[in-house]
Amino acid sequence: MKIVIAGTGYVGLVTGACLSEVGHNVTCIDVDYEKIEKLKLGISPIYEPNLEELIVKNYKEGKLNFSTDYETEYKDCDIVFIGVGTPERSDGSANLDYIFKVLNQIARSVEKDCLVVMKSTVPVGTNDRAELYLKEHLKNNVKVEVASNPEFLAQGTAVLDTLNASRIVIGVESEEAKNKLLEVYERFKQPLVITNRRSAEMIKYASNDFLALKISFINEIANLCEKVGANIEDVTKGMSYDTRIGNKFLNAGIGYGGSCFPKDTKALHWLSNDNEYELKTIKATIEVNENQKYKLFRKAKELYGELKGKNVAILGLTFKPGTDDLREAPSIPNVRRLLEEGAIIKAYDSVGEENFKKIYKEEITYCNSIENAIHKAELVFIFTEWKEVKEFELDKYKVMCNEDVVILDGRNCYRIDDMKNRNLNYYSIGREFIKRNK
Ligand code: UGA
Repeated sequence: MKIVIAGTGYVGLVTGACLSEVGHNVTCIDVDYEKIEKLKLGISPIYEPNLEELIVKNYKEGKLNFSTDYETEYKDCDIVFIGVGTPERSDGSANLDYIFKVLNQIARSVEKDCLVVMKSTVPVGTNDRAELYLKEHLKNNVKVEVASNPEFLAQGTAVLDTLNASRIVIGVESEEAKNKLLEVYERFKQPLVITNRRSAEMIKYASNDFLALKISFINEIANLCEKVGANIEDVTKGMSYDTRIGNKFLNAGIGYGGSCFPKDTKALHWLSNDNEYELKTIKATIEVNENQKYKLFRKAKELYGELKGKNVAILGLTFKPGTDDLREAPSIPNVRRLLEEGAIIKAYDSVGEENFKKIYKEEITYCNSIENAIHKAELVFIFTEWKEVKEFELDKYKVMCNEDVVILDGRNCYRIDDMKNRNLNYYSIGREFIKRNK
C-alpha cells in the first residue's frame, strides 16, 4: 500500500513518521523545497520530542520519503492523507484554501483508484464537498473517495499521542473505504470509532471545544475563588474524585492558546451561526478565554498604575511547555501591551525565543537564563510552566529581583506556602494573593 501525506506541518509530518514506523511505505509532500531538503537531512522543521529520531530512522530504512513532486507521488498512490492547515479567517470560519489546493493537485494527478483521507480539522460537511470537488475535477477515469480521520495529537506529545492514540475515528461512506483504513491502522490497538463522515468531523470539533470549555469553566471558578477566598487547587482536587468530572484539563491559568482550541472554538461557533443556531457555551468559552489572557497585565496595572520604565521579566513565551509554537500564545498580546505602556522587558524561553524574535526582535532583551531575566526585575510574569521555571530555586527571586518584586504567575507554578515563607509578593490564578511584610 503506497501512502502519500500532503503537508509536513504538525499533523502531516507526525502522521507520516508514525505510519512509516508501524511499517507502511510513506511519502510526505510539501511545496516548500527547503523544508523537504532539510527533512531528507534528518532535520525536523518543528520541535517535537522523538520526531526527529523517527524521521531519521525510517528515512534510512527507506520507509519514509520526502518530495515536492506531488504529480509523481499522487499518480500511483493508494491513499492520500491531507494534513495541511485550516487557519482561521477574520470572521472565525475555517479557511479551506490549502485543502482545496491539495484536492485540485490530487484530481489532476491520480491515475489509479485512491482514497483521500482528511486528517486536517475541517467543518462538518467539508468531506462531502471535497469528494464532489474531486469528482468534478478528475483528469483521469479513476475512482476516488473521501474519508474523515481526524487527528487527536497534542503538541509536545505528538508522537506518543499518535502511536498510542486514545481512539481512532474513521468517518466513511463505504465498506471499501472502511477496509482500506482498517488496513492502515491494523497495527494500532486503540479503540476504533467507525461512523459516517459528518459525525467524524463533528467528533473532532466537539472534543476540542469541550476541552476548551473545561478550561474556561475552571478559569471562571478560579476567578471567583480569588474573590471569595477559596483556593482553586483544593477546589479542583475536591471535584476530581468524582470520576464523572475527572482530574484532567482542570488547571486554571491565563487561558488556552495554541493552533487548535482558539481556532476550533471560533470555527464551531461560526458553523452553528451559519446553521441558525447559537452555541451559547462555546460563545462563553471564547469570551472567557479572551478576558483571561490579560489577567496578569490587569493585576500589574492595578498594582502599579504606570508601567513606564518598569523592569519586567517574562518567563516562558510559548503557549505551553514542550513546544516552540507561539500561535495564540498569551505572551504575545501581553508583551504588546507592556511595550505600549513603556515597560522594559527581559525574556527567557530558550525554546520559544527564536520564533518570538520573528515578532519582537529589538524591542525586548532575550536572556540565556532565568537568573539574567529576573535580575533587578520589579515584575515577573510567568506565561509558560516550563519545568525549568517550576523547579527554579525560589530564594533566587529574593536575591536577584528588586526587593519589592511582584511575581505574577499565570500557570500556578509554585506552592503558596513556599512563597509565603520567603516573604515574596506573589499573585497566581484562583489562589490567595501573597503580599510581602515590609
Ligand atoms: C489540543 C488537544 O489537547 C488535542 O487533543 C488536539 O488533538 C489538538 O489540540 C488538535 O486539535 O490538534 P494542543 O493545542 O497541542 O492540543 O495543546 P493542549 O495541551 O491541549 O493545550 C492547549 C492550551 O490549553 C494550552 O495553552 C494549555 O496551557 C491550556 N490548558 C490546558 C490549560 O490552560 N489548562 C489545562 O488544564 C490544560
